[in-house]
Amino acid sequence: MIKMERINKIYRPQSNPVHALQEVSLHIEGGDFVAVMGPSGSGKSTLMNVLGCLDTPSSGTYWLGGIEVSSMNSDQLASIRNRKIGFVFQNYNLLPRMTALRNVELPMLYAGVENKKRQARALDCIEQVGMLDRIHHRPAELSGGQCQRIAIARALVNSPDIILADEPTGNLDSASSLEIMHIFQSLHRNNTTIILVTHEAEIAAFARRVLHFRDGRLTADEILSPQHLKKTPLPKGGEDI
Ligand SMILES: Nc1ncnc2c1ncn2[C@@H]1O[C@H](COP(=O)(O)OP(=O)(O)OP(=O)(O)O)[C@@H](O)[C@H]1O
Ligand SMILES: [Mg+2]
Repeated sequence: MIKMERINKIYRPQSNPVHALQEVSLHIEGGDFVAVMGPSGSGKSTLMNVLGCLDTPSSGTYWLGGIEVSSMNSDQLASIRNRKIGFVFQNYNLLPRMTALRNVELPMLYAGVENKKRQARALDCIEQVGMLDRIHHRPAELSGGQCQRIAIARALVNSPDIILADEPTGNLDSASSLEIMHIFQSLHRNNTTIILVTHEAEIAAFARRVLHFRDGRLTADEILSPQHLKKTPLPKGGEDI
């Protein structure tokens, strides 16, 4: 699904270059659940931007679903991004004037999906995150955890192969964080590939594999043992555990 070979990303190469990613090689199978950890400034968001085709590497090769994307132009990258990738961000990135339903419909509006089909698909995704009772609320009328659930529904509408989530629980209390992680866990069970940045070990424990970054380098690649996974809380219909 994902293969990177000796990826480097250098910001501002002319003056004060920052080596945000250094010689990163990695392979992620379809359907895996991967957490990315590391100190602030270690290159996690830069990695997510490259993985999500929001940015191109300075050197190295990146294959996504068998296609080499590292040398594509921005139009080609946008097309790959829209078809294959769903993004979830720490601050939700919902449009404040729009209802939850309209926010979820938005990616399909851009893709030219017809009205009825659009709404049906949006409602389907909103149901998956348990938010059907809040579809006419605006973001300011929702809790942080509810906003994040709507943002996940929005990420799902184009049936992405991969969900990229950069600190999706960073602004949430622990109960809401667990609810969000249960949603990711159920998406993982449905075979969606999930790559998630977190600072918290308890959040990373939901993943199957943890990549550790330091100074732009991949320093450890950890497979969580089945024993460890057994300790992972299982979904309980969204209630606190
Ligand atoms: N657009 C940019 N231009 C120049 N330097 C950048 C840019 N974006 C990031 N950097 C630098 O690249 C390095 C890696 O940044 P990145 O945002 O990937 O870190 P991070 O691991 O996500 O950190 P955090 O945990 O704080 O979010 C940092 O030193 C940062 O200052
Ligand atoms: Mg970051």
